[in-house]
Amino acid sequence: MQSDTEDVTVNVKRILVLNGPNLNLLGTREPEIYGRTTLADIEELLRARAAQAGVDEIDFLQSNFEGELVEAIQKARGRYDFILLNAGALTHYSIALRDAIAAVPVPVIEVHLSNIHRREEFRRTSVIAPVVMGQICGFGVDSYVAALDIAIRRIRKDTK
Ligand code: DQA
Repeated sequence: MQSDTEDVTVNVKRILVLNGPNLNLLGTREPEIYGRTTLADIEELLRARAAQAGVDEIDFLQSNFEGELVEAIQKARGRYDFILLNAGALTHYSIALRDAIAAVPVPVIEVHLSNIHRREEFRRTSVIAPVVMGQICGFGVDSYVAALDIAIRRIRKDTK
């Protein structure tokens, strides 16, 4: 019989958090849109939350290069149970990123700090949206937190 503790503990699960172009500048980049929280702050927050939930591994990669993100997604196969992805501007035009997501059987949650649907016209299109599990946008840092919580909940469901 499973104990209560076992019931709430995730069973060897790994999450990858990917951030695309210019997200390394969070904290100073257009703070009226993206806030003053740095990417390091976000990573620390997610790391603590994941540890508390019993996630075995949470890894972070930020890159300004499309190819590096494509490779990270390709290599996630068999290594991660979930990817949280803020692709930055690549969201709006990178078919390479979209194809990588479609090619790899790791569920992806698309994350944005800002609500891309109430900004410039060109941001309203996400070319990755049709191949991700879902999109969370408009809640600032909470977009990442919500995505992490959903990933953890989904992983638990799958392991039960
Ligand atoms: C963003 C929204 C994108 O349109 C933009 O290019 C970014 C950040 C967000 O988190 O709100 O770099 O993905």
